[in-house]
Amino acid sequence: MNIDKIKKEVEVELKKLQNDRDCGAFHQKYLGKSGEVTLLVQSLRDIEPSKRAEAGAMFNALKKDTEEKLRKIQNDIKQREQTEKLMQDPVIDITVPKWGPGGVPLVGGLHPITLVIREVEEVFKGMGFIVESGSEIATEYECFDSLNSPKNHPSRDMQDTFWLSDGRCLRTHTSAWQNYILKKYGPTFRAISPGRCFRNENLDATHETTFFQVEGMMVGEDISIANLIYFMKTALTAVFKKDIKVRLRPGYFSFVEPGFELDARCIFCDKGCSACKQTGWIEFCGCGMIHPNVLKEGGIDPTKYQGFAFGFGLTRLAMMRWGIKDIRLFNSGNLEFLGGVK
Ligand code: DAH
Repeated sequence: MNIDKIKKEVEVELKKLQNDRDCGAFHQKYLGKSGEVTLLVQSLRDIEPSKRAEAGAMFNALKKDTEEKLRKIQNDIKQREQTEKLMQDPVIDITVPKWGPGGVPLVGGLHPITLVIREVEEVFKGMGFIVESGSEIATEYECFDSLNSPKNHPSRDMQDTFWLSDGRCLRTHTSAWQNYILKKYGPTFRAISPGRCFRNENLDATHETTFFQVEGMMVGEDISIANLIYFMKTALTAVFKKDIKVRLRPGYFSFVEPGFELDARCIFCDKGCSACKQTGWIEFCGCGMIHPNVLKEGGIDPTKYQGFAFGFGLTRLAMMRWGIKDIRLFNSGNLEFLGGVK
């Protein structure tokens, strides 16, 4: 068989290949066990020894070239078929650009609060805390009485709390979950609960009626303020991915004694900036040693067990994390804002 003739034939046939089946048939015809190119290579033994080397080089080159071209065509066909399949899928339209005019994302993403919640959960889970979410509707007992909150405290007032007609309220803080958790997991546990809270606030750049907090508690024997400082420092360092110093100042919350305001060293500067009001410290959260009355209310003997509690704003954390200046953006549904947070 004449090599030039086969070579030409191969070129013509390769151009005709449209799909997998064509490729299979082509392979069989030219490269299979008794394919024409294969036979050509095998016919070398019948060639005069003096011409064998030259012919061998030509035959093998043809075989290699044919194999490579076929492989490339098969790859192209596969890609084209995949693209066609995706284009037909009514759910996935791969031609839609990811970003539209003005940086508005045209594909979905996770809300910044969801991102922060997931991250905080991961950090605390890594330190042995369970994650338990509480109800957004709380009883007056859960939100106030069980937390040693005096009857005349302003947070019980209509001005601050959204009351429901059945006497329950939209929880004003995630602390409303403390009593439930103490009863469910006491006397020794570590737990956090992130969630949405509500307060009857006038809206401005730093106040929202709907915001997110995370509450945390660790209860057991010999739990001290040192444990509180350690866990807060470790958690903040993990969230901000840099070493964060913390400090405690006295603070009043009815459900902790002693109670503190925990400040974190400013994440933006060393000596003072507008974020830390030139102090170098950012007020981060309320915390303290759980008040004996709160433990008692949760069925835990305060003479045997102690614990710390903390609660911080996840919305505020997200604002710090991404330098977001206006809290109202979170619930605005503004796609330009949402698309800019990753
Ligand atoms: N619930 C408080 C608030 O919303 C925050 C808080 C302060 C939570 C002290 C705590 C704590 O667990 O110990 O302002």
